[in-house]
Amino acid sequence: MKSKYVVLLVVSVIAILAMVWLSGSINERRAEKVALSETPQIDGEDQYRSDEWKRYYPRQYSSWLKTKESGEIHDLLKEYPQLPILWAGYGFAKDYNAPRGHYYALQSNTNSLRTGAPKDMKTGPMPTACWTCKSPDVGKIIERDGELEYFTGKWSKYGAEIKNSVGCANCHDNETSELRINVQYVNRGLKAAGLESFEESTHQQKRSLACATCHSEYYFKKTMWEDKDGTEKKAAVVTFPWHYGLTSEGMEKYYDEVGHTDFKNKISNAPILKAQHPGYEMHLTGIHGQKGVSCADCHMPFTQEGAVKYSDHQLQSPLNTMDRSCMTCHRESESALKAIVYEKYERKTQLHIIAMDNLAKAHLETGKAMEVGATDAELKAIRQDIRTGQWKWDYAVASHGSFFHAPEETLRNLAMGNEYAMNARLKLVSLLAKYGVMNYSAPDFDDKAVSQKLAGLNFDKMVEAKLQFKRTLEKEWNKQAVENNVWNQDAYKGVDNETAYSKNVNGIHVKK
Ligand code: HEC
Ligand code: HEC
Ligand code: HEC
Ligand code: HEC
Repeated sequence: MKSKYVVLLVVSVIAILAMVWLSGSINERRAEKVALSETPQIDGEDQYRSDEWKRYYPRQYSSWLKTKESGEIHDLLKEYPQLPILWAGYGFAKDYNAPRGHYYALQSNTNSLRTGAPKDMKTGPMPTACWTCKSPDVGKIIERDGELEYFTGKWSKYGAEIKNSVGCANCHDNETSELRINVQYVNRGLKAAGLESFEESTHQQKRSLACATCHSEYYFKKTMWEDKDGTEKKAAVVTFPWHYGLTSEGMEKYYDEVGHTDFKNKISNAPILKAQHPGYEMHLTGIHGQKGVSCADCHMPFTQEGAVKYSDHQLQSPLNTMDRSCMTCHRESESALKAIVYEKYERKTQLHIIAMDNLAKAHLETGKAMEVGATDAELKAIRQDIRTGQWKWDYAVASHGSFFHAPEETLRNLAMGNEYAMNARLKLVSLLAKYGVMNYSAPDFDDKAVSQKLAGLNFDKMVEAKLQFKRTLEKEWNKQAVENNVWNQDAYKGVDNETAYSKNVNGIHVKK
């Protein structure tokens, strides 16, 4: 009897001790959680430098810094030499690479041959709007100068002031650390589409909308305005074309209605729309988007470190983190699931290449028709087919991940893009015949250098001008940014080394 009570007593004491220990551990976790949501106290100007956030959020910072590991250049013009033909007369024909980690976003923009070789604060060729998706510093400038002043002028205007790559202040409030957006055009786009603003959206929606700021389709809307001295100025304002919905058809209708064209193709004179990267819009149409899975669920999986759970800020291919990104919901083996993803990529690539080939031939055949005397009136419907076809093809692939995010919508747009290209080519056969040209076959475009020549580009000259810019004006920008405490150069070691046109642009120029 007695011993029974002793056992009971001992068991109770053990249970009580265990509970005390457990509650202590829970309190510890609570404390950890509180520490995470504690007001970070990062002052106004300092918030734009991600290294200033490090002392409050070392795990988020160090994982963010790891986006540096994805720095390799993958030259897409080399992989797909059709592209310089499709984009003849537009910057993308000069230089176009697959996306790299966020660490490089700003430098990729500065290094790209697309942004040319400015000589001072007024030379272009690109507008200030180009910085918008590259840096948190944009929020600072908009607050200081006003949105319309920010969107006025050439990108070189802010070369010494916009220096930090996509970072904490793009997505987080510096006082509460809550998710936020620091540009207004997102809410204007959501409103145009009849959707709730960022602030009114649910927490799960914000985990995607934080990416939609940049991974979306947009154009630069020409806007006339008067500054406070009454001087008339022209701004190019980043605008989401979502007024008729978030589909390729809705956006094309909007662009047609406002008479927007990004450029006239130099070979065919077709009025072309360049898709940016409708990643958010495509994602919404896929099964994961429809089931409410957010971008962060796959690209920023939770990571456990001792008692601390945090979001992995190394935004990258989720195929590198499948155990944390996919296996939380899926039951098949990682290798089986990966094989399904690769198969989707292969299917997309097959149609992708067919559509590009036909579009490139349509441009070149139109060029031939112009050469032998076809009139603009005769070419009108053909150029319209090319415009629609190229838009659908570009819309399908420009966001890079769409083959997985939304395979059906990707293949549908590619098939329709190809259909329009084929319609143009059929019309061209009879038009060329009318001018006595039979069995015309477009010149080869199976090499980047060859198709850049067909697009009228002088590659060596572009590279030389760019390297001159990097030796002079860019060095000056860097110096000023460090002096003005805008930028911590040490946090960006090695950011500058790789481009598609030259290895180690700061050391000896090695031609690639
Ligand atoms: C591209 C957007 C983006 C950037 C850039 C970014 N974050 Fe986050 N961050 C998120 C998202 C999304 C979450 C998940 C939020 C949630 O669900 O509450 C998050 C979560 C957090 C949290 C909450 C705890 C956690 O880990 O879930 C902290 C703290 C944080 N981030 C700090 C930082 C710091 C510091 C930086 C810069 C080094 C940074 N973030 C850069 C999007 C971003
Ligand atoms: C302020 C703009 C901005 C925001 C916000 C942003 N991105 Fe990006 N993202 C970019 C740019 C620009 C690049 C391309 C960088 C380069 O090529 O140098 C990129 C590249 C990427 C890549 C390719 C990385 C690689 O290693 O290949 C992924 C994946 C990605 N972003 C996902 C996201 C997700 C998910 C979110 C939201 C949590 C997000 N991004 C928010 C601008 C942004
Ligand atoms: C269900 C998981 C999942 C969701 C949700 C998701 N992605 Fe992805 N994403 C992937 C996978 C898988 C890939 C293909 C990666 C590869 O090719 O290695 C990818 C590719 C990408 C790429 C191209 C990266 C590159 O270097 O080619 C970007 C950019 C991207 N996603 C951004 C986003 C954005 C923005 C969202 C939300 C609007 C999102 N993703 C939602 C899984 C997801
Ligand atoms: C938050 C849960 C969740 C996460 C995380 C998630 N999935 Fe899914 N996935 C789903 C749901 C739900 C479906 C729809 C099918 C269903 O209801 O069973 C789905 C469907 C799929 C399909 C079949 C649909 C199609 O498009 O063919 C594939 C393949 C897939 N997921 C791959 C992945 C991969 C790869 C990852 C990681 C990069 C991932 N998923 C992450 C929930 C998730």
